Amino acid sequence: MKKYKTQLLSMDEGGIAKAAAIIQSGGIVAFATETVYGLGASAFSPEAVEKIFQAKGRPQNNPLIVHISDQEQASLVSSRITPKARALMDTLWPGPLSIILDKSPQIPLKVTAGLMTVALRLPAHEGARAFIRACGVPIAAPSANRSGLPSTTRPEHVLADLSGTIPLVLDGGPCQFGLESTVIDMSGELPVLLRPGAVSLEQLEVVIGKVALGKGVMQPLAEGESAKSPGLLHRHYSPEHARVILLQGPQGAMVRYIQSFCKENRHRCAAVVKTSVAEKLDGVLIKAMGEDDFAYANALFDTLRALDDGSVDVIFCQGVSCEGVGMALMNRLLRACGFHVQTLY
Ligand code: TXA
Ligand code: MG
Repeated sequence: MKKYKTQLLSMDEGGIAKAAAIIQSGGIVAFATETVYGLGASAFSPEAVEKIFQAKGRPQNNPLIVHISDQEQASLVSSRITPKARALMDTLWPGPLSIILDKSPQIPLKVTAGLMTVALRLPAHEGARAFIRACGVPIAAPSANRSGLPSTTRPEHVLADLSGTIPLVLDGGPCQFGLESTVIDMSGELPVLLRPGAVSLEQLEVVIGKVALGKGVMQPLAEGESAKSPGLLHRHYSPEHARVILLQGPQGAMVRYIQSFCKENRHRCAAVVKTSVAEKLDGVLIKAMGEDDFAYANALFDTLRALDDGSVDVIFCQGVSCEGVGMALMNRLLRACGFHVQTLY
């Protein structure tokens, strides 16, 4: 359903004014944030929000995050901001943290997929905040990718997925973090982490004490078990053509496994690994992801997209430890491989 000649404008005053005019007339716009690109609409308009679901091919049961330009706007979106949620806002906002609270009556059920709770986020990205401010309304926005594919971290990814189906992309260059925000549910008795992100579990616990890990976040859901977050589909962030295999274990064993797998099988293989492992590999397409988890996280979606052009059958990804930002990285890797992990010794 192509109906637009999608424009790409830089995220300056002119671009933002044009984007805000589209939002105010009930349209949708893709924009950069510090995590990934978002696809936004007025959070007060169910008709505009429906256009997001159509453009992405998003399942109707998956709720959207509502983005605000300053903390004062939070009370438009949630009618019950708890003291612990306020403490998180005061300490970790603006930033890559989405906080789930009871929704206010103004937020249509279309945004929350029928839930009485809503996710709120105040982004750190200056351009994103300027855009929301210019719109004059909170902005409901999921990641700006076709549903099921890796999130978009560069304007060219947004165009590859959504060109022709949206009128405008606000170009803020490559995203600073490259994985989606941390999602924490603060609407119940106990805080529950539903999606790890750049804000780590450790950082959250410093501010509010014990945080539980949601079901289905780091392990597959058991049969009959339902996830608190409808977004926790098993297969997600997945390349379209290639199969991802996640490798855990010592570097030497990893190098041997990849080399012998590629020799014995007729598959076309790629290895997404830290630079120290990349240096020891040959005979396979190598993507060196730097040495620290931030660099790896930052390049992950771009790399998976680049490798998914049909030229590769199997993508080996190196697993990391679940500390700090490592938990977010492992969460995305586990979903990309559908929890198919090969443990090596
Ligand atoms: O970094 C980000 O969070 C990006 C940028 C654009 O802000 N947005 C993003 O949105 O990643 P999306 O829609 O791709 O992911 C939102 C996640 C989904 O897993 C969704 O199910 C969950 O948050 N979510 C949203 N509202 C929720 C609610 N009320 N209860 C439970 N989960 C919710
Ligand atoms: Mg998404």
